[in-house]
Order: sequence, then structure tokens, then C-alpha cells
Amino acid sequence: MKTNFVPPRHDFPLICNREPIAYLDNAATTQKPQIVLDSLLDYYLNFNSNVHRSAHTLSDEATQRFENARQSIADFIGARRREEIVWTRGTTESINLVAHSYGSMFLTPESHVVVTQLEHHSNIVPWQLACMRTGAQLVAVKVKSNGSLDLDHYRELLSRNVQIVALGHISNALGTINPVKEMVEMAHDAGARVLVDGAQAAAHTEIDVSELDCDFYAFSGHKVYGPTGIGVLYGKLDLLEAMPPWQGGGEMIETVSIERTTYQSSPYRFEAGTPDISGPIGLETALEYYSKRKQEGLHEFEQDLLRYATSSLKQIEGLKIIGEGPSKCPIVSFLIDGTHPNDVATLLDQQDVAVRSGHHCAMPLMEVLGIPGTIRASFGLYNSMEEVDKLTEAVQAAVRILNH
Ligand code: ALA
Repeated sequence: MKTNFVPPRHDFPLICNREPIAYLDNAATTQKPQIVLDSLLDYYLNFNSNVHRSAHTLSDEATQRFENARQSIADFIGARRREEIVWTRGTTESINLVAHSYGSMFLTPESHVVVTQLEHHSNIVPWQLACMRTGAQLVAVKVKSNGSLDLDHYRELLSRNVQIVALGHISNALGTINPVKEMVEMAHDAGARVLVDGAQAAAHTEIDVSELDCDFYAFSGHKVYGPTGIGVLYGKLDLLEAMPPWQGGGEMIETVSIERTTYQSSPYRFEAGTPDISGPIGLETALEYYSKRKQEGLHEFEQDLLRYATSSLKQIEGLKIIGEGPSKCPIVSFLIDGTHPNDVATLLDQQDVAVRSGHHCAMPLMEVLGIPGTIRASFGLYNSMEEVDKLTEAVQAAVRILNH
């Protein structure tokens, strides 16, 4: 082990309450530290009120905390301005917003939209819908057998009339970290915009949207120790200002008459209706908590967990790791000869090891790899080396039972 990081298990009530479960499904969602739960309760106990609407003290307090959270999230991802942060329900809604709004403004029957074969369905289907509405064509960058993207194929696709590239920062199914900065540069050289799906990245890498120079960046609170139901869309301000609203309602307007409406500037024009108010406050708390753990060496520890899990699992006869690209986050996907991923996952569950199995909302990737799905163990900041041992022993026991 290279770092002195100690998983702060006692900060997470569920992890303690549900012992002996080894929770290894963090790519699906993470558990919440007590401090995040406290911040949600504090909001409802002490300053619950609608934001941006009323002149009373409670509403002022709620609005201040809500907008402070927007600033904190901007700082967390290196955005230049608070106005570049739009609240959404999650990564999926952020991508749908861009596909809908940017798509309706900029896609034409001559345009190409580039995704990759590694994408989660949420970064494919919204673009398919946008292409159906506009006549644009959707194409996908090929993935190599080790789970990394074929950049020669990407270069080839960029020679077409590409309007936007929608690219995952990290594959949820395999853990591959894509060379996003290089791919953004290549897209910009070809005159295309780039949306980065950061759902898996927020909890495992540094995100600096100014350095990446991406045009949009999307992530979810619940995958980075925050509440469910709150997500973030970052967009460069000039682009957000050029995009039409995608939902109508209160708060997103400047003036309304029966004949005509004028809209607020960004980000409010994209936030119709009463927003989730406790969500941004809980997310702000979660990111503060997570940032401290990063400073203590969390990411280095996660890489140790990844290496240890990979090498331990590889000792098991008939087990094959799926996705061994040069750069990975702590996700290990694997298959075992002669067994179905769902059967293995069920037997792991019976031994108190929680993993996900199946296609991981990445059916095109599974098709390209020619597999029905995988068993996926994904780690978070409370996981320990002992839990890797527990996983390995549970897989060995499952193999014995299934091959009996
Ligand atoms: N996107 C989540 C996962 O990969 C749900 O499990």
C-alpha cells in the first residue's frame, strides 16, 4: 500500500448499520456520510422556503444557501462563473437538456453527432432522439478489445460535418478513463462542440472544465456521496445564452403575456418550476467532505484497491477481467467461464457482497465485446482491502458452487 488513507467507514451510517455487507456497487450510487444527511435535515428544520420568489427572511436564507451552493459547485469543477452551473435532476437530465436545447438550435440534416461505443445509454438515447427530431446522423467511435477508444477512428469521424461530440469521461461498465482533454482538442480543431458525461468521474478524478476546455460537463450528486435527484450541467456561458429553454414554467421567465414570453438569462432559463432546494445544499456538503478525503490520498488509495482487486481476482481460474485499458478508475468488470454474470452476482449477494451484474446500461458496448454482460465491483471511499479479500473469497465460493 502506498498511501496512509484510512477509509472513514464510521462517517457512513448505512455502512455501519448494514454490516457485514461489503457495498461494492458505488458506480450505481454511493452511500451518504452523516454530515450530508444532517445538512438535508438542517434545511427542512431551519430554513425551508421557496427560492428567488419572496421577500421574507426564510426565502432570503434559502436563496442565499442555494446560490452559494451553485458557486461551490462552480469552484469544484473549475468553472469560471456561477452562471455556468445549471441544476438538473442528474447526469441523464443534463444530457437531455443539451441534446434537446442545443440540438434544436444547432443540429441540421447535414450534421453528425459523435458518441462512442463505450457510452451509457443516457449518453446515446438523448442524441438518438435529437437526431430523429432534426435529421442529423449519429455515429459512434469504436472501442478496442482492451476497453479503450480507437482514436484513429475518432479522427476519421471528425472529418465529417460534426456538430457535437458526446463523450463519457469514464466508462461506467469497464472503468476506462478516456483521454478527454486530447479528444476535446481534436473536436475543437474539427469545429465541433463537446459534451462530457462525468457521471463516473466526479468521485474518482480531478475535474477542471476550464483546463479540459469542454463545452458542457454533466454529473450527478448521488454518485459523489450527495443526495439523489440533484445533478449538474456546466455549460460555457456564451453557449448557454445562445440556447433556447427546454421546459417552460415559473422562474425561467422575464415577462409573460398571453401572446409572448421573454426568458431569463442562464442558468435560470433552464430551471423551470420550484427546484430541488435541499439537493444543492446536500451536494455542496458532500463535495466539501469528498474534497477533504481527496487531500488525504483517497484517489491513490482507490488505485491501490483497483490493483489489488484486479490481481486477486485474476488468480481465479476461468476468470477474465473485461476492460484493461491503460488508465482506469476503481471499477473491475469480469466474467467467469461457464457461468452467467447474474448467477455469480446472486451468489455474491448471499455472501453479503453487493455488486452489479448485467449490461450496465451499455448494451452497444456488450454487443461489440460479444458478451451478455459482466459482474462489476466498483469501489468508493469507505471500501477496504479486507473487502477486496471478501469479494475474492466470495467469487471463489460462487465458482465452486456453479461448476459443481
Ligand atoms: N449508471 C449507473 C451504473 O453504472 C446506474 O450502475
